[in-house]
Amino acid sequence: MDAEPNKQNQEKKVDDKTLADGADPRLDAHASWSPEWRKFLSEEPMQLLPDGMPLFNWLEISPTELCNRRCELCPKRDRERFPSQPLTMAPELFYKMAGELETLDYHGIVILSGYGEPLLAGCIYDMAEAFSRVAQVKLVTSGDRLNVDSIAKLLDAGITMFLVSLYDGPAQVEDFEQMFAAACAPRHSYVLRPRWDGPDKNFGVKLTNRAGTVTAGNQPPVVLDHLCYYPHYAMMVDWNGDVLLCCQDWNRRVKFGNLAHQSMVEVWSSPVLRRYRLDLRAGRRSVTPCTRCNADGTLHGAGHAEAWERYYARGAS
Ligand SMILES: C[S@@+](CC[C@H](N)C(=O)[O-])C[C@H]1O[C@@H](n2cnc3c(N)ncnc32)[C@H](O)[C@@H]1O
Ligand code: SF4
Ligand code: SF4
Repeated sequence: MDAEPNKQNQEKKVDDKTLADGADPRLDAHASWSPEWRKFLSEEPMQLLPDGMPLFNWLEISPTELCNRRCELCPKRDRERFPSQPLTMAPELFYKMAGELETLDYHGIVILSGYGEPLLAGCIYDMAEAFSRVAQVKLVTSGDRLNVDSIAKLLDAGITMFLVSLYDGPAQVEDFEQMFAAACAPRHSYVLRPRWDGPDKNFGVKLTNRAGTVTAGNQPPVVLDHLCYYPHYAMMVDWNGDVLLCCQDWNRRVKFGNLAHQSMVEVWSSPVLRRYRLDLRAGRRSVTPCTRCNADGTLHGAGHAEAWERYYARGAS
């Protein structure tokens, strides 16, 4: 591994987190970050493969298409286009992926989140256990299926951080504090994220239009000549193994490969992804879904974008 901390944007990145802070000190997301997570965010570890190719350090997985909610800020609000469906990642697939990460001696993180509610995937405990053997695993959840037992079981399975989206109101803070305390969860193992504000306050998040699939709230404009680093540092894997451009792309029409029958490195080095990276690195959002996307895209990954530029400049395809 070649550590290349991205000093340039270090301060900005830590301050700019999408995890919103609230007036309630228990909602101070920064304060509850573990030392390991702070280190990861400030250093953004860089791992180069033997041929110099930068590996992703942020692997997001969508365990299931199921969701019990229809949050106004989320594409899932539209049940016609984004139905809740009993489609869940197969164990063979996540064991295969975990095995590949082990072989790669992966230094990044795994995030269980995606296009549904991860805790509705029956296999979530096995999945958490499989990935936690090879990486830090973070779980993003509405918290609807959390209780003292499930928290304890997820901690046992190796989840290092719960990011709980609180959609219903401030009263949830106390409820979850009690639940995590009763499950003996370390204070830095969970972050309660206020999401109960309405569209007038952009739902309390750094709102994006999910590549043109959400219009709610006061959406920032789409700026076509804007950099984006997502595909330089993050790999997004759908429940069926499809590798997608990024977590913003809810249309999921552009696919770079499938991990059920391809390796992670094979897909990550796809020539089509190369074209996206070069365009986005040059500040050109010229191809779908980027043409409709208003996400900033530069909060993380500047170091990876530079590393890819060096790699491609050597003639690598
Ligand atoms: C799509 S959800 C999936 C995980 C889980 N169902 C949850 O709600 O936490 C992942 C995260 O995206 C956030 N989110 C959803 N729509 C968003 C939008 N349009 N802009 C910014 N964040 C959004 C949610 O609040 C949540 O924190
Ligand atoms: S934000 Fe999460 S809980 Fe809400 S509808 Fe989307 S996927 Fe479901
Ligand atoms: S511009 Fe938007 S859609 Fe394109 S890679 Fe970046 S975040 Fe994803």
